[in-house]
Formats: sequence, C-alpha cells, structure tokens
Amino acid sequence: MIFESHAHYDDEAFDEDRESLLISLAGHGIDRVINVGASLAGCRATLELMEKYPFVYGAMGVHPGETEELSETGIAWLREQCSRDKVVAVGEIGLDYYWKEPEEAVQKRWFERQLELAREVALPVIIHSRDAAKDTLDMMQALHAEEMGGVVHCYSYTKELAREYLNMDFYFGIGGVITFKNAKKLKEAVDYIPLEKILLETDSPYLAPEPNRGKRNSSLNLPYIAQAVAELKGVSREEVEEATSRNAERLFSKVHAS
Ligand code: NI
Repeated sequence: MIFESHAHYDDEAFDEDRESLLISLAGHGIDRVINVGASLAGCRATLELMEKYPFVYGAMGVHPGETEELSETGIAWLREQCSRDKVVAVGEIGLDYYWKEPEEAVQKRWFERQLELAREVALPVIIHSRDAAKDTLDMMQALHAEEMGGVVHCYSYTKELAREYLNMDFYFGIGGVITFKNAKKLKEAVDYIPLEKILLETDSPYLAPEPNRGKRNSSLNLPYIAQAVAELKGVSREEVEEATSRNAERLFSKVHAS
C-alpha cells in the first residue's frame, strides 16, 4: 500500500470530482493521505476532509506565500486544531523566495513562529523551501528543528544540502519532479538519501509526474514516483512503497498503522 504524504485535495481543481476521486484511491493501493494546509482557509477545508474520510489526515500550517494573513489569533486557532486526533503535523511552513511577496522578513517571522508552534504542540513539521536554501537551513538549525523532526517537502536541493538535513534526522518528500528527464541534481540527491528517509508525495494538484506532466496531479500518480525511486535505488517498486509507508508512520506517529 502507498502512503500519500502531501496533497491538497481542498484545492478548487478537485471541486468537480473530489468525492469520487478520494473514494477510488483505496482501490489503487493508496491507503492513507495527508492533506496539507497552506492557508487558514485551506486548514479549515482540511479539517472537513479529515472528518469525512477515515483515511485522510491533516497538517495545519500557513505556506510562506500566505503569511500576510497570520496574526497571533491565527496562531492560537492553529494551536487549537493541532490537538485533534487526526492532525499529525504542522505545515506546510517555510520560506519561498521565488515569489517576491510577502517580503523575506514577514516570511521569516511566521516561519519562526510556526516552528515554535510545532514545538509547543510536539508535532513534526512539513517544510516548504524554494529558492531559500541557506535561510531555511540556518533558521531550522538555530531553532533546533531536529527536536521536532519533520520532512522537507518536494525536496529540490543538492546532495550536499541533503547531508545537512540528514544530520538533523529529517525526511525528504519526493514527488513528480524525480520522473523528469532534466532532474539530474535531484536524482543525485535521491541516490544519496537512504530509502529509510524518503516519503512519497504528489503535492496534488501540482507537479504531475511523467507521463502525465502538465496535467492535474492526483495520488493515482504515486506509482510513477515510486518506480523512479525504485530504479535509482535498485529495488522493486513494491519495496519502495512499503518502506516509504513505514517511514511515514514513524514520522507522523499519530497516523494509524495499516
Ligand atoms: Ni504543498
């Protein structure tokens, strides 16, 4: 069975067929899904999905690009949600300098605040980091993120940087990019990262793998990602699916074992 560690089924891209798609997942071997909040509205929608579907779990957090909406009231609300049984992580949180807004100081302030939140509620973190490799790592080291643990979602940095995250005992979320022909740097990193530290994810509806690149993504594409990891690791696809499920259970310890 496959554990989907990062999806956004609250996205409007799923408005037409969300119910039938989610219900079809089990028949395709996908037995658990973490729906990741990226804004306060996204977190509210995640709570609804969690309540409706037994196999859906939630992460509560505000994406760096949405941090303008945060305040201490928002943090207090997030903290309250984190005590729910099926909320298994704080995320996605981090830094994204690809977009120029909000300014870096605002992103950093709320990244720090949400890392502190994870510490307060004793949950692992789901990190989003784009074009911000150095600042992300510096802040995580300064704030001792290794004590909360977590995953760097959609890992896109080098093998050298992977070593730093391994030193913090972090996991690596590997998604559709691993199937792209030009993903040489990422393939080197995945070759280097032990299978015990890899989680499978799609980031649906974004980043669909080959052969569906450019289309709407869904967890149904996870076998393509598992296959690409299996080829790099020289093991079977089933072995990758099994190992990454166990990894996700280890990291997100509030998730029920399959
Ligand atoms: Ni995401």
